[in-house]
Amino acid sequence: MRRHPPISIPRNLEAFAVEPDAAQVAWRGLPSGPIEFSCADTSLTFQSDGGPGAVSLDHLPPNSKLTIRVTPSSGSTHELPITTPAPPPGERLARFATMSDLHLGSTKFGLVKKLREKNAEIPHPMRCAVAAGNEAQAWGAEQLILKGDLTHHTRADEWPQLEELVRGFQVPYLFTLGNHDRQPKKKGIDTDKGLANAGLDFSPVDSIDLPGIRIVVADTTIPTKGHGQTSKITDEVVGLLSSSDTPVFLGIHHHFEQFVLPWFWPPGIPTWEGLPFLKAIRAANHRLMVSCGHTHRNRAYTRKGVLISEVASPKDFPGVWAGYTVYEGGIAQTVRRVATPSAIAWTDNTRKAVGGIWSMWAPGYLDQRCFSHPWE
Ligand SMILES: [Fe+2]
Ligand SMILES: [Fe+2]
Repeated sequence: MRRHPPISIPRNLEAFAVEPDAAQVAWRGLPSGPIEFSCADTSLTFQSDGGPGAVSLDHLPPNSKLTIRVTPSSGSTHELPITTPAPPPGERLARFATMSDLHLGSTKFGLVKKLREKNAEIPHPMRCAVAAGNEAQAWGAEQLILKGDLTHHTRADEWPQLEELVRGFQVPYLFTLGNHDRQPKKKGIDTDKGLANAGLDFSPVDSIDLPGIRIVVADTTIPTKGHGQTSKITDEVVGLLSSSDTPVFLGIHHHFEQFVLPWFWPPGIPTWEGLPFLKAIRAANHRLMVSCGHTHRNRAYTRKGVLISEVASPKDFPGVWAGYTVYEGGIAQTVRRVATPSAIAWTDNTRKAVGGIWSMWAPGYLDQRCFSHPWE
């Protein structure tokens, strides 16, 4: 039976995402029953089952110090102070969203002691990916971008799951591959065969133009290897960047290593390839941001003058997708937890992975998940 927290002590209640005009509040456990959330002129009531959840508070004033009030049906009100950022300058032009590391076909999560799901009608990777796509579209995404590790072992039965997922999208999509899509294991099949069998068209480098931004996706994988490379995509990516009249968002799977020797798992793009690549793409178009997956964690940093974000997976804690709002003068990123109850019930449980260290490693800091980035 689920244990309920004492009414006066919210369990891990936090403002997980704070955007110029919205905030997402998430928690591990709140008292059962109706919970009222309010902030500025917005209020809503959520029916808590005592477990994890998340709600979005919209229509907030930008660039403001605000207080989110959380009130259970019995008990005291809890206050969460937030500061909504100013949006980047200029008119709002477009919205798109990304997801990575879906790992369709996986059945467990963790390093040594694995967390498994029993008797799920729809396995958690598919459940979380569908929910992430639905929530991103409800948020206003006009385009979805999938950044690799879409399958778990490139098995024959995993590619049709990807096809089923993208067929359900109401908006156009682009996708690129990750190392898991190129490492056939446990009856995995050749990647090209898997894509062809599922009727999925794939280009190693692809792009689409939205108002105010060119989105480029590129395949950084090396068949059968876990780490990434940029040498095979550099010329084409540089061409797409330099020929664009607008700023560019580049979505890839692998992150860029910080040091010559990787200091955490999994290994990304080695410095001797990654740093010259970043220098080349910045020279091609300095109004640029890069986002990757692979690490299953949330981070943001600047390297060689390029803003880079890493965004975690929808299927393991904290269980997220990323949204981008394009303005004339910049881009705003938000990372939101997948709030659909059947998804967050699983992802919140996976905070226990790696002896609980995962709950501290994966979420990252609020200001590295949600930020406004003006173009230079
Ligand atoms: Fe992954
Ligand atoms: Fe990966």
